[in-house]
Amino acid sequence: MNSITLHDKTFVPFISYSDLMAATDKVSERLNAAHREDKKPPILLCVLNGAIMYTAELMKRLDFQCELMTIKLSSYSGTSSTGHINIVYDIASDIRGRDVIICEDIIDTGATIKFLRNHLKEKGADKIEICTMLFKPDIYKEDIKIDYAAMEIPPRFIVGFGLDYDELGRNLKDIYVLK
Ligand code: IMP
Ligand code: MG
Repeated sequence: MNSITLHDKTFVPFISYSDLMAATDKVSERLNAAHREDKKPPILLCVLNGAIMYTAELMKRLDFQCELMTIKLSSYSGTSSTGHINIVYDIASDIRGRDVIICEDIIDTGATIKFLRNHLKEKGADKIEICTMLFKPDIYKEDIKIDYAAMEIPPRFIVGFGLDYDELGRNLKDIYVLK
């Protein structure tokens, strides 16, 4: 894998697609074990745009019945979190009394996940779980438990596999880190 340039910045290879898939296999086994006996199908909530690729990879490994829903949030600008979360578009269906598995690309400060969890509670969700592809534990400030994290990474800015730098890089199959 070679380094790549997006806008004004150079990124170098960081996590290979195959390592990411091995970690996704493990998370899906844990999810399957936890949800196989569910009485009501949980909602897999894909947080757009970043979690789109990870949600797709995860979904095809799940062996319990589940529904897919989406929400679009924004908080990041360039390479840092603004802390101000906007709902670009909301979940289209009624989620009252439903169990929700939030599917995120990455958890950084935790501001987004805290906002989203409160939002889902206000909408009447029952049990809420958090499933993220990547987690930056050194930056995380909240006390909300992260139920499933495929991989933990150091506090560096990354792109690829859904994650962007000012909208570029989402299509990369592997994950790259800012040089
Ligand atoms: P938080 O609210 O600080 O936890 O940030 C969460 C959101 O910021 C994620 O859902 C991503 O969309 C974005 N984000 C956080 N870290 C990165 C990164 O390293 N690269 C690209 N986007 C990131
Ligand atoms: Mg995101």
